[in-house]
Amino acid sequence: MTDADGPGAADQYGLAGHPVAHSWSPFIHGMFAKATGENIVYRLYDLLPEEFRREALRLLTSGVVGLNVTVPHKQAAAELVNELTPRAARAQAVNTIALRDDATLLGDNTDGVGLVTDLERNLGIALADRRILLLGAGGAVRGVLGPLLERSVREVVIANRTPARARTLAAEFRDLGSVTACGFADIVGPPFDLIVNGTSASLAGEMPELPPGTVDRHTACYDMAYGRGETTFTRWARAQHASRVEKGWGMLVEQAAAAFALWRGKHPQTRPVLDALAPFR
Ligand code: ATR
Repeated sequence: MTDADGPGAADQYGLAGHPVAHSWSPFIHGMFAKATGENIVYRLYDLLPEEFRREALRLLTSGVVGLNVTVPHKQAAAELVNELTPRAARAQAVNTIALRDDATLLGDNTDGVGLVTDLERNLGIALADRRILLLGAGGAVRGVLGPLLERSVREVVIANRTPARARTLAAEFRDLGSVTACGFADIVGPPFDLIVNGTSASLAGEMPELPPGTVDRHTACYDMAYGRGETTFTRWARAQHASRVEKGWGMLVEQAAAAFALWRGKHPQTRPVLDALAPFR
């Protein structure tokens, strides 16, 4: 809120990304605000990579008190803020920025807690002692690796089109648990308990070719992407007769709830929002 807004004006938040036009975040944060009685507005800011730093700083010094950050700016956001939470420092990626009272910027990453909460609490998919295959080694996987490893999983295998990227990521997180890396063709069995897709292959209508025996009827498959209907990954998972096939709507809502809690000090209930989004899934 700026002085010019006067008392009672809504606090300003928003999402910085490119593209952002189809984001559900204004709807989600609008529902959280109404349910908790918080007076906020939430806007979309479509920023090109070359203007992200300048524009984000301009927004955060002219009335905006918090930003969510999405593709492709999460790593740039980690470099922009004054301080990182431990989980954002681990990920070297930021999806939530908070302007603090002393005018410094705090960067957090709520993607991992969003995924873990959706899997365990909303979907009832246990993580402890499970073998997990993560597809991809980009920003999406970087954000969730730490929180997944902290759930006492037995093993995480990161498989990526470019194996060297997966190996770099695995080395960064090895102190948190058993994490190894390989190319898609080098994945070895037995079938995994959970496969999480964090590649953007679906956007191109592609699905990496995985060796036979990666999935069986006990494997749950989760696509971090969300949208209406099937993705290339969910279609593939159904064809493999996976036990569960889920998309990232719950992760989206849970990461938003954790961001809202950081900003407003209140953790909103997510079930009403998940129910409201159900017709659009
Ligand atoms: P994001 O921040 O969304 O993760 P990113 O950092 O560009 O974006 O990472 C995209 C991920 O999707 C990478 O793991 C990428 O593989 P590479 O590291 O080999 O580039 C993966 N990816 C993109 N298109 C793919 C495709 N057609 N098949 C398989 N993997 C793909």
